[in-house]
Parts: sequence; structure tokens; C-alpha cells
Amino acid sequence: MQIYLDTANISHIREAAAWGILSGVTTNPSLLAKEDPNVDVKERIREIHSLVGGHLSVEVISTETDGMVREAHEILEWFPEATIKIPMIPTGLGAVKRLSDENIPTNVTLIFNPVQALAANNAGATYVSVFLGRIDDIGMSSSAILEEITGIWYTHNLESQIIAASIRTPLHIIESAKLGAHIATVPYNTLKQSLQHPLTDKGVQLFLDDYAKMQTEIAKLKG
Ligand code: G3P
Repeated sequence: MQIYLDTANISHIREAAAWGILSGVTTNPSLLAKEDPNVDVKERIREIHSLVGGHLSVEVISTETDGMVREAHEILEWFPEATIKIPMIPTGLGAVKRLSDENIPTNVTLIFNPVQALAANNAGATYVSVFLGRIDDIGMSSSAILEEITGIWYTHNLESQIIAASIRTPLHIIESAKLGAHIATVPYNTLKQSLQHPLTDKGVQLFLDDYAKMQTEIAKLKG
């Protein structure tokens, strides 16, 4: 399962990219606004693109098919490898179909149930983003819904890649991997938290202390 960062924060992307585990970045209007409400979206996206090199999803804000397709073409002028993020609404499906006919990659976002995922796949989506945290927020089980979706996917050998999104906890990442999501897009803090373990830090410190002790002994022997 690939890991993307779900953010528009430049320093977080730079840091995670240096870890060598980042396959892409997903953004949305809320994430861009959170970093800077006055942000120049085009400039910020181009800056992110220069850091990532891999997948980068950029979301449209139109809600009509023609507007979404027009925006998609504008975004592709910013950088030609863009994946266009489209909301899971009927007009969005129409846009996905048209973009797919032009071989433009799309990521259908705000998916909460298997039929929405199936419809997005059938419209030609390259990626379908299932919002785990927001499913849990309404008292439903995100893992049960993701399991239904991946079950359908592997039964029918469907083409879209499943992105587990709205990830809030390390457990969401583990569930996504166990259930067969292709990608998890993870906020920086959750990713960092998932990579840390107190026994790892303790173990590193122990190795360093033992090495230092050994060097002291060697120095003593050499007189
Ligand atoms: O990838 C979707 C994500 O940005 C939404 O996350 O935590 O606002 O539900 P959240």
C-alpha cells in the first residue's frame, strides 16, 4: 500500500519526502485554506509539485460538469501530470467520464459508500477516495464499509485505485492496508505518530550508550 501525505503544508511535505516513503500528496480547498487563507493556489500547488515528483491531486471547486472540466484543463497548465480531484456528485461523474475519455487522471473524492465507489469507477475514475474518519464521525464503521468496497473491487477486478482518506489514527492506516486499499493518504501528524515507537527510541539510545561505553574502554586500554 502506497502512502501519500494529505496536506498543503510545504515544510511537512519537504520533511516527509526526505524520509523516502512518500508516493504522492493529496490536497483539497480546506487544506489549502488551513495553511494560508490568502494563498495563491496555483503557486502553492506548483511548489508542492516541485517537492513531490510523484502523484499530486488537485481539487476543482466548480460543481457543474463544464466548469469542472474547464478547471481541470487550467490545472493541467500548471503541471501536466496533475490528477484532478472531483467531488462524488452526479455532475462530477459526468466530468470524470469526459476527463477519462481524454486520458486525464481523476480522483473522485468524498466517497462514503460502495455504490458511490462503484459509480466513480464506472465513470472512469483513476482513484476513488473513501473518507474513513468522516464515516466514523457519523457512528458508522469505516472498516466495515472499506471492507465492502475492497470486497467488491477484488471480486470484479475493478480498475480504479482505492485511496483511504480522512485518516485520523494509526489504526486507520493499518485497517486500510489489511483490507486492501491501494493507497492511504495520511496527515503529517498521524504519519509521524505512526512511525514512532518508544521502544525504538529507547533501543537507539541504548545502542549509542553501549557504543560510547565501548569507546571509553578502548581509550582506557590504549592508555
Ligand atoms: O483526504 C481527505 C481529508 O483531507 C479529509 O480529512 O479529517 O477533514 O475528514 P478530514
